[in-house]
Amino acid sequence: MKILVTGGTGYIGSHTVVELLNNNHEVIIIDNLINSKIDVVDKIKKITNKDVKFIQGDVGDYNTLSKIFSENKIDAVIHFAGLKAVGESVKEPLKYYEGNIGITLNLLHVMQEYNCKNIIFSSSATVYGVPDKLPIKEDFPLSRPSNPYGTTKLMIEYILEDIYKADKDWKITLLRYFNPIGSEKTGLLGENPKGIPNNLMPYIVRVATGELKCLNVFGNDYPTHDGTGVRDYIHVLDLAKGHVKALEKNISGVHVYNLGTGKGYSVLDLVHTFEKVNNVKVSYKIVARRAGDIAECYADSSKAEKELNWKAELNIEDMCRDSYNFIIKNSTKL
Ligand code: NAD
Ligand code: UFG
Repeated sequence: MKILVTGGTGYIGSHTVVELLNNNHEVIIIDNLINSKIDVVDKIKKITNKDVKFIQGDVGDYNTLSKIFSENKIDAVIHFAGLKAVGESVKEPLKYYEGNIGITLNLLHVMQEYNCKNIIFSSSATVYGVPDKLPIKEDFPLSRPSNPYGTTKLMIEYILEDIYKADKDWKITLLRYFNPIGSEKTGLLGENPKGIPNNLMPYIVRVATGELKCLNVFGNDYPTHDGTGVRDYIHVLDLAKGHVKALEKNISGVHVYNLGTGKGYSVLDLVHTFEKVNNVKVSYKIVARRAGDIAECYADSSKAEKELNWKAELNIEDMCRDSYNFIIKNSTKL
């Protein structure tokens, strides 16, 4: 199939493009490089030994998208492009509503115009809010997330559901990611956020390399096995495979899948595993809870296993090893 990948030079997008190319799909990337670098394109080519078309442009720009669709018969879109910094979204909500929902509306308009009705959307476990019980299943009630970033994910899910209600030809897949970490094995692609990282693994790796002094562990008084927050970390390579499986399902409807491993690890579990597999020290101190965090979150991904024949295969040790491998091969100053 010929796939348009929005945000394809970003962290999850780039790994998914590799997986698509390895499965003989043809890929066009559109990315405005607001949170990624152009050299990712060459790295993708190097890893796969295949060609990929790259267009530097904004998904919110009608003319750019329209040109792509008029020049190519796009079979499906995998839509990663968007902004993802939770804290920033609280300070600048309009930037997030425009940068996530605005661009998605433009994309959907153009897709409709060119009769391309197949989309996979990057949603998030954040749409479940504070779950009543665990593990989280797809049919659990959704609730308004605590920040505008999360709200954009929920709103885009609703928009896509309404589009399907109005036109049953659409094939819509909502993939709710849990916590993606890790990198592909060569160490060429990975997660390299600009500035001080907000998320746990990017912070841990920078403490391990000495770029940051000490990890702040946000709270050790949660009702979890060691008091620190528990999450379902999933290797980005497994996540990438989930997208290709979802693409190959290819039937009309709105299909929702949790992509997680089903296992919860605490902040300290992750720190200690990272130290053990990489033989490094990660200094940490316990500080106050971070506003908006929940105690525990992990997925029931049996629906994806049953319907997509997908299951996460890599474990927490692989994730810790590969995250560190990427950062030591791409040591950048903060
Ligand atoms: P990322 O920032 O690495 O990738 C997003 C890419 O989109 C970047 O390359 C960026 O330059 C590009 N982009 C942003 N706005 C654009 C626009 N208007 N036009 C064109 N390109 C644009 O993020 P990621 O971690 O790879 O996340 C990908 C998607 O998955 C996002 O939608 C994110 O919200 C979602 N998601 C991520 C996580 C996570 O923890 N990483 C969890 C759940 C959901
Ligand atoms: N944490 C720390 N110190 C840090 C960073 C994080 O202790 O410096 C803790 C958090 O309190 C939490 C856990 O590590 O318990 C994971 O935090 P992350 O920030 O890495 O991830 P979140 O679960 O908060 O959020 C992530 C994405 C969101 C997405 C959500 C659900 O950042 O975009 O997963 O998919 F919505």
